[in-house]
Amino acid sequence: MQLRFDTAGLKDIATSSLVIFCPEAPVERVSSLKELDRILDGGIGKVYASGEFEGKPGQTAVVHTLTRMPAERVILAGLGEKKKIDHETYRRSAGVLSRLTAVRKSATVAFYFDADASAEIAQAVVEGFILGQYRFTQFKSSDNNNESTGSLLLCTGAKTGINKLTRGAERGLIIAEGVVLARDLSGTPANVLTPRKFASQATALAKMHGFACTVLDEKQIKAERMNCLLGVANGSTEPPRFLVLKYAGTTEGKPIVLVGKGITFDAGGISLKPGLDMHHMRSDMTGAGCVLAAIVTAARLGLKRNVVGLLPLAENLPSGTALKPGDVLTSRKGKTVEIINTDAEGRLILIDALDYANEFDPQAVIDIATLTGGAMYITGYAAALLMGNNDKLKASIREASDATGERVWPMPIWDDYRDWMKSPVADLKNSGGKPATSCTAAAFLEVGGVGDWPWAHIDIASVDLEESGKPYIPKGYTAFGMRLLVELLSQWKKV
Ligand code: BES
Ligand code: MN
Ligand code: ZN
Repeated sequence: MQLRFDTAGLKDIATSSLVIFCPEAPVERVSSLKELDRILDGGIGKVYASGEFEGKPGQTAVVHTLTRMPAERVILAGLGEKKKIDHETYRRSAGVLSRLTAVRKSATVAFYFDADASAEIAQAVVEGFILGQYRFTQFKSSDNNNESTGSLLLCTGAKTGINKLTRGAERGLIIAEGVVLARDLSGTPANVLTPRKFASQATALAKMHGFACTVLDEKQIKAERMNCLLGVANGSTEPPRFLVLKYAGTTEGKPIVLVGKGITFDAGGISLKPGLDMHHMRSDMTGAGCVLAAIVTAARLGLKRNVVGLLPLAENLPSGTALKPGDVLTSRKGKTVEIINTDAEGRLILIDALDYANEFDPQAVIDIATLTGGAMYITGYAAALLMGNNDKLKASIREASDATGERVWPMPIWDDYRDWMKSPVADLKNSGGKPATSCTAAAFLEVGGVGDWPWAHIDIASVDLEESGKPYIPKGYTAFGMRLLVELLSQWKKV
């Protein structure tokens, strides 16, 4: 997607579609609408009078200009009540309009902003538009539904406003491309995106964007004593990989470490999952995809941060060599773990990765994982779960959540949960049963892998797959968390 900028006035913008964002207010009270109404001989007033458009959130109206102005058509996009409008409102509105047939068929879509439009509004609009048009087409040999907009033109009459728009829109483009990368990784089938393939893609991206990527193979993983990662990988003929990504945007301060769950396919292992919907377990590497994409994005934005990404990658399959319930593994930290359920594999690979974070003397560690199906019974599809050992870090993540619209909700790690994860035969067991699985999983991570540093855990199992389609999240894998991580890194506050 190409971005262009212009200071042309409303009546001079040459484009296939010209978008005006409209609060829920009478035409006379919105200056750009008032001007348009004059140019179009009362055409805007008519649309409002007919009741077909009132500026409600998600509402759109297409008005053909019949050569009264250079723009072929005007698209009104509703924002709702003025006092409730925030950046998420713009992101959603842009997402909805991005899928209108008239917009998809437009070579150029122009957005007209008032003089007071901020960089953040431009960013939200570009994000919402690009993410709204996202489709996963890599495996379609023919695609007859492939229209998408070629370029976006951002306009504001005021010369001073154009710098803000440029800054925000360019940032929005880079961030949206990060989400597209992460969504593509989630959607790629497991026979294509194996741990080795993930590693080679990460290596190529690191080279392209100027950060370091080290790939540990199974021998090196063994030398690092990551026996839980090896145990999970044992059921598959595909060998595991462990990636260490390093982006040094500054030489100052200890690194922020991001850990992402990278199960490229989760069949459950010997504790086999039911067949229905098992194909979706190709995206059990979304955490790893989000971390990789967030580091690519941090590098592209030139963030002045020191970031390390740790990605344990493996397949969880049943076979004659697979992990069995009752087996005991010794983790990198030296904790013994009794395997109760081989489908609780994410926490196993994560405790080895979390312990490896000690090698970097981190200022904070954040892990992100499609960890527990139970997350869906807590917040539905409306939020990811947030847990951890540091209130300041959790507060920063809540702030990033508010800014991005990627909602997270806090859950506790009480001693009860730590107790439930004790095993009669080993230090820990990997499943505490049905009650509070998201919390007991977090307790397991804390006891099994977390060191003496601020740590937060984001469980994205509830939000990884969008089944009905939202304004800027079409049906499919969401890559939820990618924008949240980038925002957290951008606005980083010392913990
Ligand atoms: N990858 C799954 C969690 C998951 C389920 C993510 C559905 C997205 C949608 C994870 O590895 C898993 O199987 N968790 C088990 C843990 C249980 C056996 C303790 C679960 O949540 O059922
Ligand atoms: Mn599982
Ligand atoms: Zn899993």
